[in-house]
Amino acid sequence: MTAPRPGEPSVLPPADARSARPVLRNDTFLRALRREPTDHTPVWLMRQAGRYLPEYNRTRARAGSFMTLAQTPELATEVTLQPLERYPLDAAILFSDILTVPDAMGLGLSFAEGEGPRFERTVRDEAAVASLAAPDMAKLRYVFDAVASIRRALAGRVPLIGFAGSPFTLACYMIEGGGSDDFATVRTMAAARPDLLARIVEVNARAVAAYLREQILAGADAVMIFDTWGGMLSAAAYRRHSLASMRAVLDALAADPAARATPTIVFTKGGGGWLDEIAACGAAAVGLDWTVDLAQARARVGARVALQGNLDPLVLLTDPATVAREAAAVVEAAGPAPGHVFNLGHGIVPRTPPENVAVLVDAVHRASRRRR
Ligand code: CP3
Repeated sequence: MTAPRPGEPSVLPPADARSARPVLRNDTFLRALRREPTDHTPVWLMRQAGRYLPEYNRTRARAGSFMTLAQTPELATEVTLQPLERYPLDAAILFSDILTVPDAMGLGLSFAEGEGPRFERTVRDEAAVASLAAPDMAKLRYVFDAVASIRRALAGRVPLIGFAGSPFTLACYMIEGGGSDDFATVRTMAAARPDLLARIVEVNARAVAAYLREQILAGADAVMIFDTWGGMLSAAAYRRHSLASMRAVLDALAADPAARATPTIVFTKGGGGWLDEIAACGAAAVGLDWTVDLAQARARVGARVALQGNLDPLVLLTDPATVAREAAAVVEAAGPAPGHVFNLGHGIVPRTPPENVAVLVDAVHRASRRRR
């Protein structure tokens, strides 16, 4: 698989014209990724800036659409910081979407109200695959501007996480033209035309590596690869189309002097059965969904990687006492070894009561301090 060449020119202004990296006042999250001891378990939540927050819905209404929100750095900064104003979270995550990359490839992304993402054009036949190319990073400039703007607004409060979709998960949306219950077109292509799928994934891997590199240059302190759909593949297809392409992205970052010091997280939802292979892919940390036994996962990977996860997001739909108890159980399951980042096993759902998130963050901090 071809990786971008290290030292390629950046679309950003030269490094000496960018704002210097402020000293972090809370680097607990980065320490945990390095498996260093911390005085509490750091916590952040997938989709921590989203529709469960009334202030998010207000900003989104003002923006008019999700894409305008994501493409306007000031608004993206505002919503990224909203959950941090409410809760003592240990990291911020860039407000954007994984589908910005296929959009920049010219596929025409839109989000219909209450319907999820849609592409105007799909990539599923020979001709569409042949004309697919990694996008010019200048088209994604709004993302890197948002990263720089969020970094400035954070002023060293907590680290900022950048992210991308996995090459395979991006391919899922590009092939189907949107979300799907079973991704039947993708799975039949994996069986009948693995060469076509491999070609799409290879282009995506180059795009994702360049995209994460630019986010790092703009100020991201860590980067995460979201492999939301890798878990629906057979083991062999997962290895070939998802894991190998994430490894290619990580190898490209590791070969790049500007990116190699930045810790990486890979998250394959439904990937628990392949934990050993995922833990060997070169990432600093592995994200786990809620079906995985965290204590067993730690026993299996030993001290090779940090682990991130893995409370069932629907626990947040219960009551404060249940949330606190279940959060403490996850902290307990992670065990005494350093290298746990608390998170949900997938994104917060929109009907989550914001008060329960406050209870959750507090419970993680308290339970983990007691355990030290
Ligand atoms: O975690 C965060 O707070 C950062 C922001 C973030 C969003 N999307 C914002 C968003 C991140 C990290 C993502 C990643 C993403 N996007 C993934 C991978 C993670 C996962 O959830 O598995 C995927 C598969 C997507 C694609 C996507 N974006 C879908 C399927 C949808 C529609 C479904 C939904 O939840 O509405 C989106 C839209 C989206 N991305 C929203 C947000 C806050 C909701 C948009 C709105 O305001 O209407």
